[in-house]
Amino acid sequence: MINVHLTGTGCCLPEHVLTNHDLESIVDTSDEWIRRRTGICERRIARDIENETTARLGARAALKALAMAGVQPKEIDTIVVGTVTADRQFPSAACMIQKELQITDAAAYDVSAGCSGFIFALETASNAIRVNGVRNVLVIGVERLSSILNWQDRNTCVLLGDGAGAILLQAESAPGGVLTTNIRSDGGRWDLLYAEYGPSSEPPIANMAPAKPFFLKMEGNRLFKHAVNCLSKIAIMALEKSGLTLDDISIVIPHQANMRIIRAVADKLQIDMQRFYVNLEKYGNTSSASIPIALDEANRNGLIQPGDNVLLISFGAGLTWGSALIKWTCQQDK
Ligand code: COA
Repeated sequence: MINVHLTGTGCCLPEHVLTNHDLESIVDTSDEWIRRRTGICERRIARDIENETTARLGARAALKALAMAGVQPKEIDTIVVGTVTADRQFPSAACMIQKELQITDAAAYDVSAGCSGFIFALETASNAIRVNGVRNVLVIGVERLSSILNWQDRNTCVLLGDGAGAILLQAESAPGGVLTTNIRSDGGRWDLLYAEYGPSSEPPIANMAPAKPFFLKMEGNRLFKHAVNCLSKIAIMALEKSGLTLDDISIVIPHQANMRIIRAVADKLQIDMQRFYVNLEKYGNTSSASIPIALDEANRNGLIQPGDNVLLISFGAGLTWGSALIKWTCQQDK
């Protein structure tokens, strides 16, 4: 019997801190509005175009996860990256991270599922281990959303941030590890959150016009309701599939979009907010990086212990939503 164990976590945040007060001089907003409506106080923005690329942030997070697990980059078989902000249209962020890690013989590919990218990547990676006999897989969530934000749109630019998180999954026969993953999409509602122009939506070659900027557009208000419903439903699905109850869950790591969404999910599921790990006040919504960053912080702060059942829940553009339930076996002092 092959089980999928999570053996290392890591994250990497850009240096520059952009506070709500800083945003007051960029758009018509206030620290008070942003805190009250979202819970966010500040976020990190990648300003160093050499060292804070998507590839470099992702690679640094991955190296920390590998160091925790005591595994060398050359032992990696597969790299799966959840992102919508690869440095280039192609190659994939995963291939560029692979180069940073100096791994020359592994499969590397991206998964595009908006803010659910990490959970979709985790499901894909778990299946590779269970079905295809792969042994060591890096799963990374990384975004530089600041590069696709319209810094004149106060509805969106105050919400998002940059960063990277990573985990290492390893095939082991011992019980525990990833108990279940669940992913869902509703493409009929893609227009609630999307990038305004893609390379093929209005090809500049056809009308000889320069490429238009690639801005993120969002209907926050309608997304809010879907987020609460989808996150709650997919949490229940994870419990049902693993035969556990809410009482068995030690910690919930939700996608860090908005404190009010997280509170509403806690209310709906009737779980005490104390069991939710929240760090969005420091980083804002880092999309597919938010769950692995929070997971790494909670792990390194000693909030997750071997034997704990850890529930991850995500929601994002697509629409997409997903969950994973992990019986924790990660030892930090390997
Ligand atoms: N500063 C000040 N005022 C702002 C503002 C800002 N940054 N952004 C919007 N407003 C204004 C709006 O213009 C609107 O003004 P009006 O009433 O005069 O028209 C008012 O605040 C209320 O806007 P509304 O969109 O109804 O606020 P809200 O309570 O729904 O909060 C979000 C907005 C975006 C914070 C919230 O809807 C949300 O978090 N949605 C989910 C977003 C999400 O999860 N996205 C990613 C999914 S992964």
